[in-house]
Amino acid sequence: MLVDAHGRKIDYLRVSVTERCNFRCVYCMNEKPFVWVPHNNILSYEEMFLFIKQVIDGGVNKIRITGGEPLVRPDIDCFIKMIRDYKADVDIALTTNGYLLGDLAQQLSVAGLKRVNVSLDSLKRDVVYKMSKMDALERVLEGIDQAQRYFMRVKINTVPLRGVNDDEILDIFDYAKRRNIMVRFIEYMENNFADKYIKGLSSHEIQRIISAKYTFKEIEKNHTSPAQLFELQDGYIFGIIAPHRHDFCESCNRIRLTAEGFLIPCLYFDEALSIKEALRVGDMKKTDEILREVLKNKPKENRWREEGENEVSSRAFYQSGG
Ligand code: 5AD
Ligand code: SF4
Repeated sequence: MLVDAHGRKIDYLRVSVTERCNFRCVYCMNEKPFVWVPHNNILSYEEMFLFIKQVIDGGVNKIRITGGEPLVRPDIDCFIKMIRDYKADVDIALTTNGYLLGDLAQQLSVAGLKRVNVSLDSLKRDVVYKMSKMDALERVLEGIDQAQRYFMRVKINTVPLRGVNDDEILDIFDYAKRRNIMVRFIEYMENNFADKYIKGLSSHEIQRIISAKYTFKEIEKNHTSPAQLFELQDGYIFGIIAPHRHDFCESCNRIRLTAEGFLIPCLYFDEALSIKEALRVGDMKKTDEILREVLKNKPKENRWREEGENEVSSRAFYQSGG
């Protein structure tokens, strides 16, 4: 069993399979031009799989595939199948911007993927373009439709930004509710790679907007999930992820592997150790040692704050996988 220095059991691995993305979201990788990490610095699926087997043997039972945009990496379905074939009851999920999902949903489900989270920040074509630099709305909505057809569970992630898409919170809410998809609003997490002028909404502000139309109450959440959950009178459940609070850090069960082979103990933490060289020579004793070191250094809580000037993360979300 994998346990960190604060006694937290680690059973959830997030794997960023690429830092590349076909979108340029304002809150993630706004800047252009953009230089990608060369392919030979990126772990192969086989190398990632060596580590994944090791942590599955160590008790990891949930794996989320992220990016960048994971669906831009070729043969992602084969990677999923490798994991599925190694251990059938590992819960495999994927987070995507939805652009390629309509084309790939069937293949991914055949490979064994059961759950996807799709980002949807607006239902207006021009706002989607403004936020992602891609004329993507139609394809993303088609991706969500296909996802509902092929996967057991689909969720929508929305990052509300002041003056950009905050007037659409209820529209997105109703869109998700009509489809019986859980929507989760995510507080914008300040980072150096985002547009400097954007400002997120707090959990309270988001709740206030939803309460103009609906009555809801907070319900007990899954204790390892960072999302606060709320239930409407008709039973529909939605979530808000508020990383500026720390109450979920106490039960954090996750570590992250980046495409370049860094093990990251906390989304908001600069210290990461590389297992790339060890993986390249197949030294699994070394990767285990590095993993233990990373677990030892996993911080008690992240460094965003609820009040006052916020810390700004110097780690890019397209590298860490969010
Ligand atoms: N703040 C909040 N959410 C973010 N995401 C990416 N960058 C940020 C950020 N800076 C979210 C996207 C997507 C998921 C991959 O992470 O909305 O749903
Ligand atoms: Fe790409 Fe996701 Fe970052 Fe947007 S948030 S630029 S879709 S990796």
